[in-house]
Amino acid sequence: MSAREAKYEAQKIAFAPFYFQATLALKELGVLESIAQHRAGIGLNALKESTGLSLYGLKILLEAGLVSNLIEQDAHQKYSLTIVGQFIRSDRMTEVNMNFTKDVCYEGLAHFKESIIEGKPEGLKVFGNWPTVYEGLSQLPEKVKKSWFEFDHFYSDDAFPFAMDLVFKEPVKQLFDIGGNTGKWAKACCRYNNSVRIKILDLPGQLAVAQQNISVESFAERVSYHEIDLLDASQAIPKGADTVWMSQFLDCFGTDEILSILQRIYAAIDEHAFVYILEPFWNNQRFPASRFCLVGTSMYFTCIANGNSKMYHTDEMEQMTVDTGFELVDSFELIGDSYHTLLKLRKKM
Ligand SMILES: C[S@@+](CC[C@H](N)C(=O)[O-])C[C@H]1O[C@@H](n2cnc3c(N)ncnc32)[C@H](O)[C@@H]1O
Repeated sequence: MSAREAKYEAQKIAFAPFYFQATLALKELGVLESIAQHRAGIGLNALKESTGLSLYGLKILLEAGLVSNLIEQDAHQKYSLTIVGQFIRSDRMTEVNMNFTKDVCYEGLAHFKESIIEGKPEGLKVFGNWPTVYEGLSQLPEKVKKSWFEFDHFYSDDAFPFAMDLVFKEPVKQLFDIGGNTGKWAKACCRYNNSVRIKILDLPGQLAVAQQNISVESFAERVSYHEIDLLDASQAIPKGADTVWMSQFLDCFGTDEILSILQRIYAAIDEHAFVYILEPFWNNQRFPASRFCLVGTSMYFTCIANGNSKMYHTDEMEQMTVDTGFELVDSFELIGDSYHTLLKLRKKM
């Protein structure tokens, strides 16, 4: 990279919040959509008519779109979308990430540096005085909650069907879903296998939502619930599981906390049980965009979620499982079309 190019890259960072907000406005005020409706391009006045925006407002947004490569202009001054603009307009992953950044993170991110210094999610205080986002999740404003859940589910949903085929290769009678959240995995398991019993372990707020979701299902009596705060090392994991499932769960904790959780799982199971960890590891991704998103997600953990967790590197996670007495039986990398690796563990003989 030349010095000139490098200086430009540095300015992209310096002005990043402006371009983020301008991009949101271009989308939410219907400018991108109006442009997309005109494959041969659309002029300024026609855009003014179709969006109802002032000429001033449109010029500000269009110029931002031009220099950030969302929009291009032809020799007749007509605007059309670039491929980047198309992704902003209609790609689901981009939409989920932008809504998450906007609704869940943007305001709190002003407290990022304090969060690094304090090891606490200082940005969370814009929503309430909880020690971590998980205690407050069920009480977040509706829009924030919607963007949080869409972000969470978007990534794990794609991996679930492939993970299920792998988990149910072994006989599974009693599966503990630690951090089972709204019960999506529990429901999918009960549909997949007509005798498996699931116990969801989670904080009370999430358990209540899961219970409400599952109570209307025909398999409701096969699902039980166990309130637990795994940050409290004195709270033991109950015995009785032949399979322990943790999806996008351990990334909610710092390394000391993960070690403590793994130790409590070790104490709760026998040597025949299997433990599964489903995680998107930032080092092992098909695309640079996925790695970029995962490292970005770590910063959400710092500033909004809990101040001490992150998206992990495969080696970090595997080392923690070895340190707590597990052996890696198998590792299924990037299962299906997902970003996730499934680690299959059991107690080391
Ligand atoms: C990122 S969500 C993952 C949800 C789900 N397993 C999935 O794959 O989509 C993390 C879950 O861990 C739960 N959790 C976070 N901190 C916890 C704690 N201290 N004790 C118990 N559960 C906790 C949250 O309530 C949430 O349901």
